[in-house]
Amino acid sequence: MIEKIRQLIAEVEAFNTDSPEVAEEMRVRLLGKKGEITLLFGQFKEVAPQDKKAIGQELNVLRDLAFNKLKEIQEKFKKTIKVDTSLDLTLPGDPMPIGSRHPVSLARNQIFDIFGRLGFTVSTGPEIEDDWHVFSALNFPPEHPARDMQDTFFIERNPDILLRTHTSSVQVRVMEKQKPPIRTICPGRVFRNEAISARSHCIFHQVEGLYIDKNVSFADLKQTLLFFSKEMFGKDTQIRLRPSFFPFTEPSAEMDVSCTLCGGKGCNMCKHTGWLEILGCGMVDPNVLESVGIDSQEYTGFAFGMGIERIALLKFGIKDIRLLFENDVRFLRQFTNAL
Ligand code: DAH
Repeated sequence: MIEKIRQLIAEVEAFNTDSPEVAEEMRVRLLGKKGEITLLFGQFKEVAPQDKKAIGQELNVLRDLAFNKLKEIQEKFKKTIKVDTSLDLTLPGDPMPIGSRHPVSLARNQIFDIFGRLGFTVSTGPEIEDDWHVFSALNFPPEHPARDMQDTFFIERNPDILLRTHTSSVQVRVMEKQKPPIRTICPGRVFRNEAISARSHCIFHQVEGLYIDKNVSFADLKQTLLFFSKEMFGKDTQIRLRPSFFPFTEPSAEMDVSCTLCGGKGCNMCKHTGWLEILGCGMVDPNVLESVGIDSQEYTGFAFGMGIERIALLKFGIKDIRLLFENDVRFLRQFTNAL
């Protein structure tokens, strides 16, 4: 038995490996449940009493040696970190191309900025609306053509639910919630059952403006719109108001700005008139104020509404509204440094 122990001591002393599998095999062979050292300990009780001390000592030496050696080898494997040489973290990254804002966003942000400086807040409302907010509260008579299926997208199952045709619906929502003074603009998408062409689309964006307070007059409306036009299209821009009709304003007007291309001399863009129509406006009809519970004897106000696409087309000299919806990067890329 002593021979066997000494032979194993020599073998363990000489043992070394780079392979975790070989080290594990060795551990099982020596120290496993049926390992050689374990078996030797089993046989120890049969050793003659006078030999027990010497053999016991040798056996302990063997067990400690095997245990420590294998532990040391296994620790070494744990410390070896595998380095993936195919990945070089010091290489420069792939540059990301710089995007640009959509021309409609550029125009909208500028509108926000101009009216923000005049103290107007921004309000929003739902795109799926009801008849009250889009038509009834805004003084549309029951037989008005905008209520026709030909002009407006209704939800089939419930004729009271429709896609808003203008953001004037948001002014109703604001007036229902807020007490005057109110000074807000309402941007958003609107929907109309129209054929798509170079000049019109069935989806587009509007900004509605609303100002309600004591003693608000038509002169305030005119001055506000003149300021806006000069800020938006340049300081030499002039405006012209033409009488018009909207159910929710009285009196109503349409506003033209002097042509942004020829400055009023006459060109193809303004069809040789020198003027471009950009918005509708007027004094809020007393019926509208009363429908939302605002005393029309105490308060007056003005409102206006404009299409953002139209402003963007004029500002950037774009000839076809459809370009704004196609998201062709060759078109959009041209606005990287637009504003
Ligand atoms: N809602 C109108 C439209 O979609 C635009 C408009 C005209 C809004 C006159 C107004 C306004 O607030 O006073 O064509």
